[in-house]
Amino acid sequence: MSSQTFVMKVSARAPQKRLILTAAEALRRGGLVAFPTETVYGLGADAFNADAVRQIFVAKGRPLDNPIIVHIASVADLKALASNVPEVAGKLIERFWPGPLTLILKKAPGVPDDVTGGLDTVAVRMPQNKIALALIKALGHPIAAPSANLSGRPSGTTARHVLQDFAGKIDMILDGGPVAVGVESTVLDLSRKPPAILRPGAITQEDLEPLVGRVVMGRGAEGKKRSPGTRYRHYSPRARVTLVELGDEKAIAELAKQYAAAGKKVAVVARHFTSSGQARPIVRIMPQELEEYARQIFAVLRELDELAVDEIIVEKTEEKGIGVAIMDRLKRAAAR
Ligand code: TXA
Ligand code: MG
Repeated sequence: MSSQTFVMKVSARAPQKRLILTAAEALRRGGLVAFPTETVYGLGADAFNADAVRQIFVAKGRPLDNPIIVHIASVADLKALASNVPEVAGKLIERFWPGPLTLILKKAPGVPDDVTGGLDTVAVRMPQNKIALALIKALGHPIAAPSANLSGRPSGTTARHVLQDFAGKIDMILDGGPVAVGVESTVLDLSRKPPAILRPGAITQEDLEPLVGRVVMGRGAEGKKRSPGTRYRHYSPRARVTLVELGDEKAIAELAKQYAAAGKKVAVVARHFTSSGQARPIVRIMPQELEEYARQIFAVLRELDELAVDEIIVEKTEEKGIGVAIMDRLKRAAAR
């Protein structure tokens, strides 16, 4: 890969054509370009260039059997990707695209196996971000893009995070400012019935069910096989993460004391925490509002890594609305 990574500031409201064309040209040559979406930054390659897609796996250190989401800019792009678009998909597309909903569909024959990890399905979404959409249109092909982070690390929600992980390893980063949502898209498997949420996101079970009927959460062990990404430890800072119950400040203080006594550098990530004691952890007070919490959580985990914290004590959130997605990421960050 290239030895220099160019970072280009792009207007999120009116992306400069010249910059978009430069980035599209890099993709056309088989390069890797990171770009903002509404959820997190993506690390993109031309979805129909198998060699370029393989470079994504190399850059991320990603297991080869973990398939990648393909990003499109118009519903017409689906033709080349999915062999069958069921009626329920049509309803969801109309309501939620562009937006943070990824649909798993039966794949069309032309989709490279490197994109789908050899599965007979493909993950597709239309991002709600003008830079992303302009880039896809300028390339004239769909863009395969996982979240722009080294495999296993918290997803990048700013261009700076992306540079931290990929400086010198990718061609370009389009800096469109911080993302709007902060957690990755909802992944909904429509290849079997009933539809199953393989990864929770901003679009919730309650949002989906009125349109498509019963939707189940995950597919258990079978689901893990079907969404390989969920098999791996994920979203993890280098520090160890421990979750405590919502509102249990006493438990946080107790743990902080224990870890500090063991000589550890300790951080607390909570919405409610006032007691200080002698432990004096680094404290990051999170927003009460879950949408705002989601926007910040990955950045906070990364920041605590930069501070070389050993232990992060995280207060759980409610598991409702986008809180389901937040807790999913926190549980995985805490998995050992
Ligand atoms: O919001 C997002 O979805 C971001 C932005 C960049 O669009 N992308 C993202 O990609 O989070 P990634 O690769 O980090 O996560 C994709 C998830 C993984 O868990 C993967 O296993 C799953 O989607 N996936 C991809 N293709 C699949 C398929 N054919 N069947 C089941 N799961 C699939
Ligand atoms: Mg990811």
